Amino acid sequence: MKFNTKTIHGGQHHDPTTGSVMPPIFQTSTFAQTSPGKPIGDYVYSRTANPTRTALEEALASIENGARGLAFSSGLAATDCLLRSFKAGDEIIAMDDLYGGTYRMFTKVYNNSGIKFHYVDMNDLDNVQSLINENTKMIWVETPTNPIMKLADIAAIAKITKANNILFAVDNTFATPYLQNPLDLGADVVMHSATKYLAGHSDVVAGALITKTAELGKQLHFQQFATGATLGPMDSFLVLRGIKTLHLRMQRHCENGEKVAEFLDQHPKIKTVYYAGLASHPYHEIAKKQMSGFGGMVSFDFVSGAKQDSVAFLEKVKIFTLAESLGGVESLANHPALMTHASIPEEKRKEVGITDDLVRLSVGVEDIEDLLEDLKQALA
Ligand SMILES: Cc1ncc(COP(=O)(O)O)c(C=O)c1O
Repeated sequence: MKFNTKTIHGGQHHDPTTGSVMPPIFQTSTFAQTSPGKPIGDYVYSRTANPTRTALEEALASIENGARGLAFSSGLAATDCLLRSFKAGDEIIAMDDLYGGTYRMFTKVYNNSGIKFHYVDMNDLDNVQSLINENTKMIWVETPTNPIMKLADIAAIAKITKANNILFAVDNTFATPYLQNPLDLGADVVMHSATKYLAGHSDVVAGALITKTAELGKQLHFQQFATGATLGPMDSFLVLRGIKTLHLRMQRHCENGEKVAEFLDQHPKIKTVYYAGLASHPYHEIAKKQMSGFGGMVSFDFVSGAKQDSVAFLEKVKIFTLAESLGGVESLANHPALMTHASIPEEKRKEVGITDDLVRLSVGVEDIEDLLEDLKQALA
């Protein structure tokens, strides 16, 4: 199946008992048994597995071209599950620009349990290579990154991880499988904040891991079942419903994102626009190589460099809603330094370019003329 068919049919089937086209929401914690240890069907207890979650997990595996999908109660719960595979003394090499919550988990939770993290600019692959030793267990990249839109060359990094027998994980939240397929490019596991584009309607918090091999999927399912941050049946249904229109939404997100980036790029009050679709973007060539479009996330800062300009702009937008999160049908605007990335220390934020006047837009699927008009009036 092609991608646009997979979002609707991949890994999915009608309910075998009723023919229900959408999977029923199996709102149950447990399943009856006929004799101790002999369940009627394949299910025992919903932390281990639930049919609505299974339906979502099979769809996730299909759209990311993986062997196994796992659905979690949040994106961070998915990342947490993966990190539980490591022990004190292990080392992880991560990108130097990450979603603030991922950085917080690495530095404030797993660092305390003795796992060592290195944060590097992944465009200098000698940088990555020089850090590898016998304790190195995983390379973690987010591409494009939140909020600076840095990219990492997935295929090039996969060559290094394969040569050194290191796990390679990619946070594919911003690109989605509509634009980028990390498992096809050599990654071992893909992570999603399914809260974002996969669910697509800002009405659910969810996460996902999709593995290249069934064996890794089995190991991670054990961690998930043993620690418990699974996605409930109602939320699984909502994410599955979202996936069915992922390709349609992403097409419009990309069209609108490009037009917003071009508009901002020409605006006299704007200094830098961070959008991989612009020829001036430092990672434009990598983006063209590994993505089939550039998405709907656009960040920018002001010529003035003044925090009050970004705050005033964010107080003035009308169609864009000032709120955390991204990837829903509605346009959102965010101030990373004061909101989503506030947990990153100021000097570290400055180092990666998250200035106090940086604004991040999640460009939705509204009419582009209304969106541009809104930006125009807020900037004025
Ligand atoms: C790129 C990225 N990864 C992971 C997460 C964490 O996901 P969640 O908020 O669903 O826990 C987010 C949330 O904003 C994100 O933007």
